[in-house]
Amino acid sequence: MSKIIVIANQKGGVGKTTTAINLAASLASAEKRVLLVDNDPQANATSGVGATAPDGKTIYEVLVGASDAASAIIPTQMPFLSVLPSHIDLVGAEVELIEAEHREHLLRAALQPVRDRFDFVVIDCPPSLGLLTLNALSAADSVLIPVQCEYFALEGLGQLFNTINMVKKNLNPNLDIEGVLLTMFDSRLRLSNQIVEEVRRYFGDKVFGTIVTRNIRLSEAPSFGKPILLYDAVCSGTRNYMDLAQEVMKNNRLYDALPARSAGM
Ligand SMILES: Nc1ncnc2c1ncn2[C@@H]1O[C@H](COP(=O)(O)OP(=O)(O)OP(=O)(O)O)[C@@H](O)[C@H]1O
Ligand SMILES: [Mg+2]
Repeated sequence: MSKIIVIANQKGGVGKTTTAINLAASLASAEKRVLLVDNDPQANATSGVGATAPDGKTIYEVLVGASDAASAIIPTQMPFLSVLPSHIDLVGAEVELIEAEHREHLLRAALQPVRDRFDFVVIDCPPSLGLLTLNALSAADSVLIPVQCEYFALEGLGQLFNTINMVKKNLNPNLDIEGVLLTMFDSRLRLSNQIVEEVRRYFGDKVFGTIVTRNIRLSEAPSFGKPILLYDAVCSGTRNYMDLAQEVMKNNRLYDALPARSAGM
């Protein structure tokens, strides 16, 4: 059985895509078969792993029913990592799908036939709580929430948890909280330390032990189309996301039981 983890926070620029790419790549480096789903019209996760969608085969076509997921999934530079790419066209999906039947369950239905090819499916989301994020929350087993160690870090989290509870009640009763991840931590800033304390006080053991520190290499890697571990194997960003992957694997022992098979997909 695969585990579907959605990376969500409607706040922009908190590290969702960086986390989606690098958690996916770190799990893949541990020989877990991983599918990275780019569910954001900005398509940063797609370009961030160096992938280019073939014409007319992206998550947009999958959601509107013009393609199945299997034929849109493409390989990456890493043998255990595949991607379901995005494209700016996805912007139109929120409007085009407004009348669609079961419009919050389109992604879940699309992933159903392929999910068992993977140990983990990691879904990146846009910075909104619109239909695309609702589709991801409906499809997922759990949600991982990146929180930036910055002013107003907790702003909007109430609204996010209201949405998660609404999804649990109406769309996906099994949705779990995978964890809250502190990102862009700067040990030199008192503020960063205060945010860590505040988030831990609020969310207790739901906060990952791993904290992602601010690391310039993490912001450079996407322009080379590489996950951090291929761009700079010894930087703090690589260490942090490898640690996060270890934590996620440990917290999902059930899902860890599968033997990793060679996944050329
Ligand atoms: N730990 C880090 N250290 C330094 N820079 C980082 C770190 N994490 C993310 N960044 C940079 O911060 C910016 C925002 O990160 P990212 O794109 O992952 O956020 P996001 O939540 O996906 O944004 P959006 O809401 O627009 O989708 C990017 O330029 C990224 O490279
Ligand atoms: Mg993003």
